[in-house]
Amino acid sequence: MNRKEQFAHLEKLEQESLQGGGEKRIKAQHDKGKLTARERINLLLDEGSFVEIDRFVTHRSHEFGLDKQRILGDGVITGYGFIDGRKVFVFSQDFTVFGGSLSESFAEKICKIMDMAMKVGVPVIGLNDSGGARIQEGVISLGGYADIFLRNTLASGVIPQISCIMGPCAGGAVYSPAITDFILMVDKTSYMFVTGPNVVKTVTHENVDSEALGGAKSHASKSGVAHFVCKNELDGIQKIKKLLGYIPSNNLDDPLRIKNEDPPERAEEKLDDVIPEDSSQPYDMKEIIHLIMDEEEFFEVQESFAGNILIGFARLNGLSVGIIANQPSVLAGVLDINASIKAARFIRFCDAFNIPLITFVDVPGFLPGTEQEWGGIIKHGAKLLYAYCEATVPKITIITRKAYGGAYDVMSSKHIRGDINLAWPTAEIAVMGPKGAAEIIFRKELSKSKNPESMLAEKEKLYREKFANPYLAAERGYIDEVIRPKETRLRLIQSMQILENKVDENPRKKHGNIPL
Ligand code: HXC
Repeated sequence: MNRKEQFAHLEKLEQESLQGGGEKRIKAQHDKGKLTARERINLLLDEGSFVEIDRFVTHRSHEFGLDKQRILGDGVITGYGFIDGRKVFVFSQDFTVFGGSLSESFAEKICKIMDMAMKVGVPVIGLNDSGGARIQEGVISLGGYADIFLRNTLASGVIPQISCIMGPCAGGAVYSPAITDFILMVDKTSYMFVTGPNVVKTVTHENVDSEALGGAKSHASKSGVAHFVCKNELDGIQKIKKLLGYIPSNNLDDPLRIKNEDPPERAEEKLDDVIPEDSSQPYDMKEIIHLIMDEEEFFEVQESFAGNILIGFARLNGLSVGIIANQPSVLAGVLDINASIKAARFIRFCDAFNIPLITFVDVPGFLPGTEQEWGGIIKHGAKLLYAYCEATVPKITIITRKAYGGAYDVMSSKHIRGDINLAWPTAEIAVMGPKGAAEIIFRKELSKSKNPESMLAEKEKLYREKFANPYLAAERGYIDEVIRPKETRLRLIQSMQILENKVDENPRKKHGNIPL
């Protein structure tokens, strides 16, 4: 080949690699309401920034006629580019090529960019749309999956890993996204399950379709596997970008800070009235979070799962923070198994990536009952406790109302290295609620009383005045300051400023043994 022919040959191969599985399959993909792997990458990355790696890779299989079907790229597009000017690695599974199924070469392509991402400290985003292991390759394909699982695990806590599920994701293939930090699922066109509806029917005789078994809504509300439900693929891509806007590129980077236009001293009079006079009444903790954070923005994570605890990202004077908050309007904000698991994982993510934690507390305690006890609330609640204890990022706690019993200790109390612990005057910090406390302390007197109801009310009042307030905790220094609600934004920003260069360490060890 002369020089001209060499260049023409390259051009021909490049054009061929852009075709994926061909026009017919691309049309079938579009007909299902799905974009192609390349269209997704183009929407995700800053215009013209995508640099493809391994576009000429093909599979090495000879079985079942595969040797006659070698498609450039082999079903996954890999490379790097920018999102809002920040570097990312990306892989996008191409369903038009062998149903996006994973071959040895396919896995090698993903592993290659993951290894590069680890070396350079850049997030990896996976766009998943695959029929699973390439059946014609047998165990070789399974080996490829395991190579990815290993890398997902080694990268965990070093670089952020985000998975968007945009089609099928079944069998053991689900375990790669499961190890990553965040899973987004596109409503109606994606599903995840270990075993599909047919196997379920054979084994358990349950009749369930893919959507109910492993669709976005099921995983967002029932299993808690999905962190975000996306209306469509574009929404998914926008959510990935938004999420990335709160998190640093690796575990050595500082938390992200953007320019802030919202005055730090903005006082919110509304906050002074948000807690109902009757402390058994609910209120919406989200309203409080919105009023305090920059531009009143709160990017909630796992919105449809364990609504009794809220987690998500926001900014304080431009700095990204992670928020954990009891939600009194759902199950009175009680801590249960799902809430504990949800918040614990989020805390560990934030701690791994140096994102400061702000905890809003209004918690009546742990949820009683056999379902919770037999379900292991002891070990699951311990996850939350463990996560707070081991976190060394700046930790600010604000008790708005109840902080009762073990839940007081757990919710980022001073005793487990809360750096700055604030309370509103409406705070009630005690072993238990006044009624329960009075019933126990004055049991004998109440049993002898001619009018136990009025006696109980009187004793309850006594207990409330003595203990159901923030001042005993403040006397001991467990609470650094009791503040007026309307000042909360400024006080949090001041707290964050002083904690900005915080250094704290845990003892050297291989790793801890979080109660799993
Ligand atoms: C090879 C596959 C494939 C696979 C799909 N294709 N899955 N080829 N290996 N796993 C091919 C199909 O043969 C077809 O090729 C093309 O991709 C498109 O598939 P369709 O079936 O036409 O698409 P659709 O009707 O949308 O159905 C999608 C699907 C279905 C539900 C994913 O293809 C399916 O059930 N595939 C098998 C899924 C599976 O059992 N995978 C193994 C799971 S176990 P042609 O040439 O006809 O267009 C697993 C273990 C991982 O993954 C373990 C990790 C530890």
